[in-house]
This record gives sequence, C-alpha cells and structure tokens, in this order.
Amino acid sequence: MHDVSLAYPETRPAVAKPELYQELRSRVAALLDGERDWLANLANAAAEVYAWLPGLNWAGFYLMRGGELVLGPFQGRPACVRIAMGRGVCGTAAATRTTQVVADVHAFPGHIACDPRSRSEIVVPIVIPVAQRVVGVLDLDADRPGRFDDEDRAGLEGLVADILPLVDWEAATRV
Ligand code: SME
Repeated sequence: MHDVSLAYPETRPAVAKPELYQELRSRVAALLDGERDWLANLANAAAEVYAWLPGLNWAGFYLMRGGELVLGPFQGRPACVRIAMGRGVCGTAAATRTTQVVADVHAFPGHIACDPRSRSEIVVPIVIPVAQRVVGVLDLDADRPGRFDDEDRAGLEGLVADILPLVDWEAATRV
C-alpha cells in the first residue's frame, strides 16, 4: 500500500524535478496498486499530485464523455464542468493529443479562466495506446507564471503512462 515514509515536499529541502517526479510516480503507483475503481483511483491520483508538487492551485482530471471533456476528480477550487474539444488549454491538449505547456495563460487564445489566480498551466492528454482514443486530460494550474517546463512535461507524461493501465477507462468515460 501507500509508502508514508517520505514526508510531503513542503516539509523537507527542495529536490530536483526529475527526482520529485520519480517519487510522485512511485507513490501514485503504490496508491492505485490492487484497486480498479476508477473514481477512487483518479481521486487519489489528483490528491497526491496536488499534495506532492509545490506551487499548484489546481490539479485534476477532465474525462471524455459524450464527445466533450467533463470535470472529474480534482483538488482546488470549483472548476468549469464542460469543455468542448479544441476549446481552452484542456480542449486543445485533447484535440491535438499533445501536452500543452502554457507559461502565461493570459497569452493563450481561448484560455478558460476557472480560477482567476491561475497564471500558468500544463495539460497532458490521456490517450489509449494503439486505439489512439483520448479518454481525458490531466490538468495542473499554478498561480505563478512559467511554473511548468519540459521537466514537468516529461514527469507528468510518465505519470499518465503509469496511470493508464490502472484505471477502467470504459467505466470512467461512460455517460
Ligand atoms: N484553464 C483550463 C480550464 C480548466 S481549469 O484550469 C481547471 C482551460 O483553458 O482549458
């Protein structure tokens, strides 16, 4: 089960991002181990991402349901419920199947402002391999511009790859 031996980052000296993401990935894998309930797994994954990574004001999932992204498990303030494919940072990540790293959300055309405190954002698409079916996105917001870089992209894409086989996406995306 959950390895609680390591303190959450706010209580220990800062470590380099690649190491932070390695720790995050093994913690999320341990949290989800042996459980197939999609709601429990995505809720715990969102909570761990939010608690483990410094400087976030929102972290969570949108799920592809009925052709649009619908708000899923998250941590942070309430957010917009439905996002059309191609709209905002989340809809762009889903439509292009490409991670979006946005240093300044005010400069991103069509950015959807759920929480006015958000200044930068990263959205990783969740795509079933081979079938190439987009089942959702992982979205992180920060109140500081330029919070996310290529190391965050690599770390979060790795995390999403870890989570993919541990979630029942059929159930998670059912309308
Ligand atoms: N800013 C996002 C919307 C979701 S919230 O950040 C939680 C977007 O433009 O898609």
